[in-house]
Amino acid sequence: MPYTLDDLVQDIREIINTEKMPDGSDKICYFVSKALMDQNFITDNLPDRVNGELPRQILYEDKDTGFCVCGHVHDNEAIGSPHDHGTSWAIYGQASGETEMTDWEIIEKNNSDNVVNVKQKKTYIMKAGDVHFYDVGHVHSPVRKHPVRLLRIEGANLDNIKRSNIRVIT
Ligand SMILES: [Fe+2]
Repeated sequence: MPYTLDDLVQDIREIINTEKMPDGSDKICYFVSKALMDQNFITDNLPDRVNGELPRQILYEDKDTGFCVCGHVHDNEAIGSPHDHGTSWAIYGQASGETEMTDWEIIEKNNSDNVVNVKQKKTYIMKAGDVHFYDVGHVHSPVRKHPVRLLRIEGANLDNIKRSNIRVIT
């Protein structure tokens, strides 16, 4: 049985509605990896970008709970600096290529100016099929030196979410 975007959306919606987050994160990760193991899912939902299309594409946005299923397809190097996702959680699923992900430890948080001081914690490689949950407030930085296809589930559309000002402490 193929696993489709519709299937994924229904599974995520049910988990969010019944278990809430972050309690349901492991289960959502399971379904994201199920999608990543289905080559047709990747072909259908994470196609090459053409004619100046943006790497980011919102495949589905849930109007009741706000979660989004997004496809990110980078045909070139994509280096991300340390960031959080504001008030949202996110799940990253690597469909193809590799991401060198670094997690950052929060040393100090100043709520008045939204500055968060961080120190490097650990770096790991995400390979095709790997899925990670990043809870609200988590700080990370992805480095992609070669083309990648990613599935990202967002608690809320990250286009509309204000991020913290991250300051790296050395
Ligand atoms: Fe991120």
